[in-house]
Amino acid sequence: MAKITYVEHGGKEHVVEVANGMTVMEGARDNNIPGIEADCGGACACSTCHVYVDAAWIEKLPAKDDMEEDMLDFAYEPDTERSRLTCQLKVTDALDGLRVQMPEKQI
Ligand code: FES
Repeated sequence: MAKITYVEHGGKEHVVEVANGMTVMEGARDNNIPGIEADCGGACACSTCHVYVDAAWIEKLPAKDDMEEDMLDFAYEPDTERSRLTCQLKVTDALDGLRVQMPEKQI
């Protein structure tokens, strides 16, 4: 279980507990948090689950694989350091305290 803070582009924060084994995307979807659309349902095929992770978390997250790297090229204003696809981030206790910010829009 991890407490994750999702920050909307406008600054509104949503703090939710997400069970281990789910993805950060599913945590947002299941709690009706706006700003993460997840059009492909988590197949790493759309980039609409893009977020910017808090700088303090960049090194603590598992590395991006090639597929995630490629899909991030299609995201809205990706940042080489902070951008991640939330459907590729599996929740574990190690993610407790994670903070992610949604982009201005998803494309
Ligand atoms: S939900 Fe489509 S890439 Fe993450």
